[in-house]
Amino acid sequence: MTTPLLEVRDITAGFGATTVLHGVSFDVPQGSIAGIFGLNGAGKSVTMKVLGGSVPARSGSVHFRGQDITKLSPEKRVAMGMGHVPQGRQVFPGLTVEENLRLGAYTLRRKDKKRYGPALNGVFDRFPILAQRRGQLAGTMSGGQQASLAVGRALINEPDLILVDEPSAGLSPVATLELDEVLQAVAHTGVTMVLVEQNIAFGLSLVDTAHLMQTGTVVHSGPVGELDDQTLATHLGIGRVLQAAAGSALAARQAPPVKKGSRARRPA
Ligand SMILES: Nc1ncnc2c1ncn2[C@@H]1O[C@H](COP(=O)(O)OP(=O)(O)OP(=O)(O)O)[C@@H](O)[C@H]1O
Ligand SMILES: [Mg+2]
Repeated sequence: MTTPLLEVRDITAGFGATTVLHGVSFDVPQGSIAGIFGLNGAGKSVTMKVLGGSVPARSGSVHFRGQDITKLSPEKRVAMGMGHVPQGRQVFPGLTVEENLRLGAYTLRRKDKKRYGPALNGVFDRFPILAQRRGQLAGTMSGGQQASLAVGRALINEPDLILVDEPSAGLSPVATLELDEVLQAVAHTGVTMVLVEQNIAFGLSLVDTAHLMQTGTVVHSGPVGELDDQTLATHLGIGRVLQAAAGSALAARQAPPVKKGSRARRPA
């Protein structure tokens, strides 16, 4: 069996006297999308921060491409091919679209200045809206456009793995649909993704594997095709209306012949 691109083993983490993660474990195979779902405060963002390196793990390990990165700085992880779209998108509102992208490409520019131009053009090709608005202040863009900018900023370093935390939060239904297209397109390029989503129906439509978190641990992991309403209801405590929406997303995912791993992969 090939080594998963990302291996998360028994992570504990916390702040001061508080332990927030009590042993988080999951694997993310190359080219797949892993979804992390859970109620507010379950520890999804802290998990993403431990993966990105901005919150230290107190115990356990994170391996990326088989290499132990548990103690590496966020910058080193980015240089190794990890990208992060943080919760709240965190674009710099007072900087232009292009300045935001340039900052995102800091590591790439340090590694190889010549790659910056083509990488910027690559992002502009994928997100024409960013090309059209390259001189606009990011803070004056719509939520959906800022989401594209945050994803573009993570992609500009040409990562193998991106960590995307609640990209649909606060977006209108139309902007959420647009974001869905963006993330599907990103997935088709073969980039591996860890996605956190509160919008269960939206998240389930994107991911291959679902990891359900409760109070700092993963209580269920498995392919989306094997997830049922009952498991969702038990672990996420979601109400009937939301459950119905999630159920229809599940039904769509389970309808044959959606073949897992059928996305086009970048050549190795
Ligand atoms: N910097 C911090 N200092 C202290 N406690 C923190 C810090 N960051 C997170 N926590 C706590 O850790 C717990 C998990 O937070 P986390 O942000 O991971 O939740 P989440 O699952 O992402 O929730 P949400 O869906 O609301 O984004 C919460 O109880 C939160 O208050
Ligand atoms: Mg969060």
